[in-house]
Amino acid sequence: MDKLIITGQRRLQGEVSISGAKNAAVAIIPAAIMANDVCIIDNLPCIEDVYCLYNTLTNIGAECEFLNNHTLKIDSRDLKTKKAVTEDVRKIRASYYLLGAMLGRFKEAEVALPGGCNFGNRPIDQHIKGFRALGADVEVDEEKGIVIAKANRLIGTSIYMDVVSVGATINVMLAAILAEGTTIIENAAKEPHVVDTANFLNLMGAKIKGAGTDVIRIVGVESLKGAEYTIIPDQIEAGTYMIASAITGGDVLVRNIIPKHMDCLTAKLVEMNVEVHEHDDSIRIIGGKKLYNTNIKTMSYPGFPTDLQPQIAALLSVCNGKSVITENVWDNRFQYVDQLNLMGAKISVDGREATVEGVDALKGTTVKATDLRAGAAMIVAALAAEGVTEINDVKYIDRGYEAVEEKLSALGAYIKRVKE
Ligand code: EPU
Repeated sequence: MDKLIITGQRRLQGEVSISGAKNAAVAIIPAAIMANDVCIIDNLPCIEDVYCLYNTLTNIGAECEFLNNHTLKIDSRDLKTKKAVTEDVRKIRASYYLLGAMLGRFKEAEVALPGGCNFGNRPIDQHIKGFRALGADVEVDEEKGIVIAKANRLIGTSIYMDVVSVGATINVMLAAILAEGTTIIENAAKEPHVVDTANFLNLMGAKIKGAGTDVIRIVGVESLKGAEYTIIPDQIEAGTYMIASAITGGDVLVRNIIPKHMDCLTAKLVEMNVEVHEHDDSIRIIGGKKLYNTNIKTMSYPGFPTDLQPQIAALLSVCNGKSVITENVWDNRFQYVDQLNLMGAKISVDGREATVEGVDALKGTTVKATDLRAGAAMIVAALAAEGVTEINDVKYIDRGYEAVEEKLSALGAYIKRVKE
């Protein structure tokens, strides 16, 4: 597995352009198979999760072709099977969107149970509850690791989500688009990628209203058509570079973003005494002043995203004073803490709460990426640390960050990849 070697304490300076949103891309690619037609998806990030879905769609008989690094043409006119059970499907979380997409289009689907980062329990009961409410029979075969869903007809209904779930909201939305009548999803997730997926589906002919609020209303249509769509910028990649600029006392213009999506982070950085200048589609982050402590509570959008929690923990670990992080989304998203502590951070964890005592400096050492955003936190910490940090298990980082070493090198970081 590849390693990243970072020599820290270089002030980041310059401009970085943010790639398309991973969590929108991984929903929109499966959604594209819902039309018996051709879709073109642009601004896709060059990341492993996208390649994994490319392989998955190809395996089920869609003709997929990259027109360039960021543009994928998906021709779903000749889908061979309603089964997606290969190893690629098991590798990533978002393959569960094939359930909603295939159930919607064919009224049947057999999909391997999804993989993805391990933050404790990751149930899909709300997805299943939604499919069942629409009239599908759903069976989970734990032994074979597959989910089978079948329906004679899907009929619109009202579905209340017991938890705010990005995945369940999008998946049920997919299945409901081609159902008969109207479906109402209450307590829906409001994340930018939910809205982006709904915008794409509406371009394909779906009738979805209310995406971005907690009530989504879907009027079923008979079929969808192909569409050409450009994915929104990645909120989490943008946030990671904003934090990287702050921790190195840098001056970085983070370009090609939607600043509104960054409000939750911008507010926290300002509290921490970081200078933030917002423009139409970019944000400039200037660090270098004494950093103050603050508390973070992760929540669904527009709250502070759990996917930026490890990165902000790295920043808090070099702030003045004590900060408390409360993780409200995942059971176990503090696995990176041991790694940060190896670098000299002082973080203790008690259940869903981490207490961070600010230290003067972090020190380079050998660490590993325990998952995707944990890996991003290691990079952020290493950029600020004294000496050299070796980050192992970079495959997790490659799942969600496009060209991370090229982008950081262009900002002046000393970072190189060692291929193994
Ligand atoms: N939940 C249930 N039942 C369900 C579904 C979810 O109890 O049926 C619970 C989960 O256990 C969790 C909470 O609801 O406590 C939220 O989970 P959600 O379904 O929103 O998560 P997800 O859709 O599996 C997506 C992102 C994650 C991100 C979360 C939260 C994708 C592919 N993944 O996961 O992104 O952490 O939403 O925002 O969109 C990442 O990019 O690093 C990443 C992990």
